[in-house]
Amino acid sequence: WTAPTLALLLGYLLGSIPFGILLTRAAGAGDLRQIGSGNIGATNVLRTGRKGLAAATLLLDLLKGAAAVWLAGALFPGHAPLGAVGAFVGHCYPIWLRFRGGKGVATLMGVVVALHWPSGLIYAAIWLGLLATVRISAVAGMAAAVGAPVAAALFGRFDLVLLFLGFALIVIWKHGDNIERLLAGTEPRIGRRR
Ligand code: G3P
Repeated sequence: WTAPTLALLLGYLLGSIPFGILLTRAAGAGDLRQIGSGNIGATNVLRTGRKGLAAATLLLDLLKGAAAVWLAGALFPGHAPLGAVGAFVGHCYPIWLRFRGGKGVATLMGVVVALHWPSGLIYAAIWLGLLATVRISAVAGMAAAVGAPVAAALFGRFDLVLLFLGFALIVIWKHGDNIERLLAGTEPRIGRRR
């Protein structure tokens, strides 16, 4: 057990906690995977009609990403980025759900904020800006994810560009169904029941 492995594992354990499923179930709001897009993220929790639950899911999915980076960095100096990889991969591919996890948008924001907060600020601005205007969660999330490596490059943090680019590619890969619906013009907007 070397420090890098432990940082990765710690991140994975935190990231793979499926807060959306746990909160929805605890609130008696049903099985999230049978609702809307079937995704385990805050957007889909919102489709249960429970705004508070969706907000809590968003916050906790974000915090677990940030916590993984901070904890990994504190316990295994120099290995914060591995905590980030673990948390992001854990959220997208959790062993507890047979590796069928979320799309990574909220957890990635936590990770980016914790690794380099100025890039996190750009991420939040793109995400919230598009959520408020376009009102399609997948579009806002994918754009924010792509914004992270661009922001890191603009700020001169070239050590983070490839890492953030890898995360962005996985976020886009995970939105395959959304992209198909977007092209077909059937992707639902936030605030409208599908
Ligand atoms: O973060 C996930 C979001 O971008 C899309 O979620 O449920 O609309 O597929 P959903």
